Amino acid sequence: MLRKTKLLFLLFLFLFVYKNVFAKKEYPVPYPPLSPGIFPCMNCHEGLERNKKKRALKEMHQNIKIENHGDRWCYDCHDERNLDRLKLSNGEYVKFQESYRLCGQCHGNVYNDWQKGIHGKRIGNWKGEKQYLLCVHCHDPHSPRFKAMKPEPAPVRPDKATTH
Ligand code: HEC
Ligand code: HEC
Ligand code: HEC
Ligand code: HEC
Repeated sequence: MLRKTKLLFLLFLFLFVYKNVFAKKEYPVPYPPLSPGIFPCMNCHEGLERNKKKRALKEMHQNIKIENHGDRWCYDCHDERNLDRLKLSNGEYVKFQESYRLCGQCHGNVYNDWQKGIHGKRIGNWKGEKQYLLCVHCHDPHSPRFKAMKPEPAPVRPDKATTH
């Protein structure tokens, strides 16, 4: 009896350790929606001085404006030393493939929902390979508010379409 309990205990211990140490959950994602030719960023930035000043960008990235995203600026999210990666507030570096961890720092509830598949979108098979769309596949990280959509005209009723 005692042997059995011991065995059972060891089994649970093993499963517990395995789950927490080895089976680290990964989120497979499609390639980030970066503009063609923009990556690696360091192709240009290797030889450029960093400029932390808030300003309207004129020579490049003119389309990037920080709107509806609190008081943020470039190096709150991008790594100043290596622009090919992002930086968390605890100083940890993350690849563009893991940008959800950056967003998750401040949007914890949405991040939890995303991990469970309640927020966002998963593609692939129910039983097979799954991919999680990144936050940035749907939200522009620089201006995350959705633009209001222009309403389409009302559809024509089918009875009218067939009688004429
Ligand atoms: C074709 C060259 C080129 C590429 C590729 C490029 N940049 Fe830039 N970037 C520039 C130039 C030039 C400026 C300065 C613009 C200005 O001051 O008007 C700039 C400015 C910036 C700034 C503003 C802060 C600073 O130090 O000037 C950030 C942040 C930045 N780039 C990030 C990126 C990231 C992230 C990528 C890759 C995803 C990237 N860039 C790719 C040329 C480039
Ligand atoms: C809230 C965090 C955040 C801030 C603030 C931020 N970025 Fe980004 N930026 C991102 C993330 C995340 C991506 C990756 C998007 C992707 O994977 O397609 C990105 C992508 C980019 C890219 C590539 C865009 C493209 O067309 O593919 C450039 C360039 C860039 N940022 C420059 C800047 C500049 C310049 C600033 C400051 C004016 C800035 N970022 C501020 C998070 C941020
Ligand atoms: C440092 C904290 C911080 C980080 C990191 C951050 N956000 Fe935000 N986000 C905010 C705050 C604060 C607001 C509310 C801003 C406002 O209402 O003006 C916000 C607002 C938003 C909104 C709602 C905008 C609206 O008005 O409807 C979306 C969507 C969003 N963020 C997405 C993202 C995504 C995607 C990322 C990762 C690329 C990200 N955020 C990273 C702090 C953050
Ligand atoms: C498949 C597209 C998609 C993905 C992926 C996605 N979102 Fe959203 N998100 C939406 C839509 C649609 C809304 C609702 C917008 C509205 O009501 O105006 C929204 C709303 C939000 C809001 C504002 C409302 C709220 O509940 O606070 C935040 C913040 C946000 N998303 C953050 C994120 C973050 C962080 C991620 C990644 C972990 C993410 N989203 C992934 C589509 C997406």
